Amino acid sequence: MEFLKNVLTLFNALILRSLHAVDTGKVLEISPDVDPEPTPNRTSILMKGIYETIAKHLIYSYVDYTSGSVFFQIHALSPWTEIVCTAELQSKGVQKLLRLPSGERFDAIITDTSLNECFYGFISKFGSPPVIGISSHGILPWTSTFMGTPENPSYMPHYLLPYSDRMNFIQRLYNFIVVNYVNFIYDYDVILTQEDIARKYFKEEVQPYWNLERNFSLFLANIVLGFDYSRPLSTNVIPVGGMHIKTTIEPLPKDLKHILDEAKDGFIFFSLGTNLQFEQLPKDKATTLLEAFASLPQRILLKGAPQEVAGITVPPNVILRDWFPQNGVLGMKITATIFAIAFKPKFIHS
Ligand SMILES: *[C@@H]1O[C@H](CO)[C@@H](O)[C@H](O)[C@H]1NC(C)=O
Ligand SMILES: *[C@@H]1O[C@H](CO)[C@@H](O)[C@H](O)[C@H]1NC(C)=O
Repeated sequence: MEFLKNVLTLFNALILRSLHAVDTGKVLEISPDVDPEPTPNRTSILMKGIYETIAKHLIYSYVDYTSGSVFFQIHALSPWTEIVCTAELQSKGVQKLLRLPSGERFDAIITDTSLNECFYGFISKFGSPPVIGISSHGILPWTSTFMGTPENPSYMPHYLLPYSDRMNFIQRLYNFIVVNYVNFIYDYDVILTQEDIARKYFKEEVQPYWNLERNFSLFLANIVLGFDYSRPLSTNVIPVGGMHIKTTIEPLPKDLKHILDEAKDGFIFFSLGTNLQFEQLPKDKATTLLEAFASLPQRILLKGAPQEVAGITVPPNVILRDWFPQNGVLGMKITATIFAIAFKPKFIHS
């Protein structure tokens, strides 16, 4: 992407930093995560405390949400996006970006397309440059619709359904209903609500979202062919899963290296991802997991805040920390198993 000299990126900074544009051009990025390796050509705006704000404003706990029915989960999309996106727009970082003059021009805008759509106001604000979509969630059904890539419910199971690509007639029928229902809710609720929010925060005229989305130039899909069921992709959808994984592995901190070198039976890396934290699990679920870990011969690297699981006994083979150098840990030859949800590229290490 050497031809892109001046790029605005919204979210997914980690994945986007691995794009070649980041090495050769000027990048303005906004992200909820601190830039760990600042470089001269990259200006990083931080949406500070956004995870905490989101956690505070959630209408359902993640546990209640995932134990609800498929239709409950689909109906939660719009209110959830409304709360999260509004909180993000009100953050100091986004306010700073909003104050940039509208005459500012970028060669391209790279933006997340999964439930942050109120940010599409920036596309209109900065004069509708070519837009590249990216999502950490693979290819969601509505993305297929606006990118024009095939979404065939007869062999592509919806992400909320426990089906494989081999479905019987009833499963195919149900999958067809769910895929079309989620697209209906997305097109007539999520996207229109997001457009209303954008109109409130962006004084410039915001293009109608249906036109704007169908005008995306490219979509970088966080999928790895071979890990997902096979599916046809139109040429504007490019699989880039694993793009962010560094090929040079930094040495592990001494204490962690010692723990892992001593792990004769290997180790298991257990992380619930960015949004759901181990300490947020109900006490009975956390205890059940820890009891299961205690019975294993491996050491378990468990991502969670040690100070917040007071009252629960952590078995001696469990190393509980709120942060691990994941690239280094997963690059170790003796990794036994990796358990990480929501973020497929982590599996690629194994
Ligand atoms: C910054 O951008 C300029 C112009 O595109 C380029 O020549 C230079 O190598 C870049 N510097 C870094 C550190 O990436
Ligand atoms: C579609 O994108 C092109 C640039 O890629 C831009 O010139 C045009 O204004 C965009 N149209 C809409 C409706 O956003």
